[in-house]
Amino acid sequence: MQSLTIPDTIDNSSFRFDHLELWVGNARQAAYYYCGALGFETVAYRGPETGWSESSSYALRQNEVRLVVASGLRPDDTIGKHVARHGDGVRAVAIAVDDAARVYAHAVANGAEPLAAPAVETDADGSATLATIGAYGDTVHTFVQRGDYHGAWLPGFVALPDAFPSRPVGLTRIDHCVANVGWGEMDDLCGFYERTLGLQPLISFDDHDISTEFTALKSRVMQSSGGGIKLPINEPAHGKKRSQIEEYLDYYGGPGIQHIAIATDDIVATVEALRANGVELLEAPASYYDDLAGRVGAIREDVDELRRLSILVDRDDAGYMLQIFTKPLQDRPTLFFEIIQRRGSLSFGKGNFKALFVSIEHEQAKRGNL
Ligand code: FE2
Repeated sequence: MQSLTIPDTIDNSSFRFDHLELWVGNARQAAYYYCGALGFETVAYRGPETGWSESSSYALRQNEVRLVVASGLRPDDTIGKHVARHGDGVRAVAIAVDDAARVYAHAVANGAEPLAAPAVETDADGSATLATIGAYGDTVHTFVQRGDYHGAWLPGFVALPDAFPSRPVGLTRIDHCVANVGWGEMDDLCGFYERTLGLQPLISFDDHDISTEFTALKSRVMQSSGGGIKLPINEPAHGKKRSQIEEYLDYYGGPGIQHIAIATDDIVATVEALRANGVELLEAPASYYDDLAGRVGAIREDVDELRRLSILVDRDDAGYMLQIFTKPLQDRPTLFFEIIQRRGSLSFGKGNFKALFVSIEHEQAKRGNL
């Protein structure tokens, strides 16, 4: 690697989510689920059949949303150990950048753990540069500089279209990715993101904003200057009972990604399709829709449809947004998805926190963890 002057500041205005890499117990079956239930399509594969003996990875795509699901193949390999500890979950939040070496150098000079120095990977379809830093717990960020690479995924993968039946649901792009961290760790992680990637706080919620009769949490959203990367960070706060964040930390074995919010242009059609595909979604409390118009004003959607599908609505100065949350996508009560449609609003559904958390507590109680 050529020597590089460490940049004092970082221009993150072009940062975007590139993809999320999930480490799972059985990538073949996980890929089948993400295609059949959540509407992804397979695009590429890397594994023993392609000359890669360490793991099996399926690259999946739905519009601009890209996921990789990967599994280890042998006892005691890296992915297998990660899955034994955490269960299925997000290992890497990959960020698309213009200059991976420069972003990596700045992050490491400012305290990020260097996990993989910038490396140019090449195959017959061109080259891409990748570099990886540690973030929190065992979660990492990979910087992906695709340059003019024109293969199906990234160097080393072979195209694998339509490997499993796909039932598209209209998901368009990753909106935000939320981390859960331990008691008192939110401020430290926000400082880390400010120093290493130049992210700035967008909005904070304290335990008065996010509490129910029983539990509470705190949250702050860090974002890149162009808005392409939004990373809310949650930590537990004191309540009468054990919060959903503590339940997550217990089952995941430490900090990690709690949920991935994915945008749609038509949430009613998306939720209809997800329900038809058998995806389990959280139910809104029955009283939620009683005075919805009074709380959020005029909206384009039919409130009876929203009630039937349990879709939540919130308004801020800039417009409104609609959202719904899946139940956990694996046996452990850890990772789940949010489906979000923004109609002007740039916020995170503060007005829905209470209804949402009452619904989550109901699920926690069923698991014996409240
Ligand atoms: Fe969210």
